[in-house]
Amino acid sequence: MMSQSQNDSLTRVGPGTDAGEVLRRYWQPAALSEELNTKRPVVPVRLMGEDLVLFRDSEGKLGLIQRHCPHRGADMCFGRLEDNGLRCPFHGWHFNRDGQCVEQPAEPEGSRMHENIKARSYVVEERAGIVWAYMGPGEPPEFPNFDCFRAPDSHVFAFKGLWECNWLQAMEVGIDPAHASFLHRFLQDEDPADSYGKQFRDKAANTEIPMTKLLREYPRPAISVDETEFGIKITALRHLDDGRVHVRITNQIFPEAISIPMSREMIITQWHVPIDDENCYWYSIFTSFKEPVNKELMREQRLKEHRLPDYAPLKNKRNNYGYNPDEQERETYTGMGLDINVHDQWAVESMGAIQDRTDEHLGKSDVAIIKYRRMLRAAIAALKEGGEDALPMQKVDASTVFGPISVDAIAADGDVDAAYKTEDGIRRGGCSWDAII
Ligand code: FES
Ligand SMILES: [Fe+2]
Repeated sequence: MMSQSQNDSLTRVGPGTDAGEVLRRYWQPAALSEELNTKRPVVPVRLMGEDLVLFRDSEGKLGLIQRHCPHRGADMCFGRLEDNGLRCPFHGWHFNRDGQCVEQPAEPEGSRMHENIKARSYVVEERAGIVWAYMGPGEPPEFPNFDCFRAPDSHVFAFKGLWECNWLQAMEVGIDPAHASFLHRFLQDEDPADSYGKQFRDKAANTEIPMTKLLREYPRPAISVDETEFGIKITALRHLDDGRVHVRITNQIFPEAISIPMSREMIITQWHVPIDDENCYWYSIFTSFKEPVNKELMREQRLKEHRLPDYAPLKNKRNNYGYNPDEQERETYTGMGLDINVHDQWAVESMGAIQDRTDEHLGKSDVAIIKYRRMLRAAIAALKEGGEDALPMQKVDASTVFGPISVDAIAADGDVDAAYKTEDGIRRGGCSWDAII
C-alpha cells in the first residue's frame, strides 16, 4: 500500500508532475502513421494532458504544435493546411511546422510582431508505423536498437486502442505474468492453426500443448525479475507434470512499454501512453521474425473491435464489455468474448480512472509491479536532483540496446537460461532481416 501523495506522484502526467517529467525524457507515440493517410493530414493529439495538432505539410514533413492558436485560442485542428504550415481560420495567422508564426495578415503592413510569436511545438519522428514525439527538454534520446525498430516495414505492423484509465494500471497488467492463467483462461482450446494474429492461441514453445491449456492447467508461475539497461526482464516458470519447465520471458521497457511474445513467429512491443491522467492509448508494434506481417488481416481483425477515428473499443464499460454469464460458465473466465484485449481493458478500467493504491494488497506474484514502481520512484528522485543520466537508456549508446528477448521456451532438462536463449537464437538465426544480437 502507498500514500495518496505517492500514488499521485507515480500516476499523474501533466507538465511539471513527477511521473510526467520522467515520461517526457522518452519518445512517446503520438499517432499511428495511418491516421495521416488522408486527403487532409491534420489530426488532434492529446498527449500527457497537452492538447496538440499533428499535421503533414506540403513538403511531406510532420509538425506537432499546440492545438489552441497563440492569438486568441481558436482550434487549429480546423486550420487551413497551406504553404508549408497550418493557418488559423479565425484571423489567418500562419504557423510553420516548428510552430513559428510566419504571417499575421490582419496586422498592419510591415508589422514584425509575428517574429515573436511561436506556438509550442515538439520534435516528431516516424518509425515502425508510429509518429513519435519528444516532449522533454534538450535533445531527444536515440531510439534503442529494439527488434521493432530494426525490422523492415514489411515485418512490423502498428495499431492502437483507447483505454479509459490511467496509464500506470494499464502498463502494470502487462508485467503481471500470473493474470494470464485466469483473466485470459479459455475453458476449451481452439485449434492453434487458427491462431494467426492472436495472442495465447499458438502452441506453447516447441510442444504440442496449446498455450490456452498450459495457462489453464499451470496457474502458479514462479516469477523472477532482473533489472536491465532497458528496464526489467521478467521470467515466469511453469513446472509441468512431466518434469519439463515452460519458460516465458517478457519485459518492461522503461518507462511505459512492455515486450512480450505473441506467438512463435511474432512479438508485441506495447506502449501505454497517457492521453491525460485518466485515459491512455496502447500502441502495439507487432514484429515478425518469419514471414512479412499480413497487415491487412491484422488491421481487419482489430478494426472489427474498434471504431475510428479514435480507436475506441466497441466493447467498453457502457455496454458491460459484452459480458455474458452463460459464456462465463462455459467458455471463458470473464464472459467477455475471446479477444484478450477486452479482458485486459475490463481489468484495468474497472479499477477506476486512477487505481486507488492506498487500498491494495500486493502478493508474491506482483513482484514485477513492485520492482517497476521502485524504478519509477528512483527515476523521479534522480530527476529532482538533476541526475537525469541515471534514468534507464538515457546515457547508454542506444545502438547497443537490443531485443528485448521475448520468448516462450521449454527447458526439458531444467536449464532455463539455455532453453530460452536457444529458442530465441533459432528464431533470430532464421530471420530474413538482421535480427542477430
Ligand atoms: S485565433 Fe487564430 S488567428 Fe486569431
Ligand atoms: Fe493480459
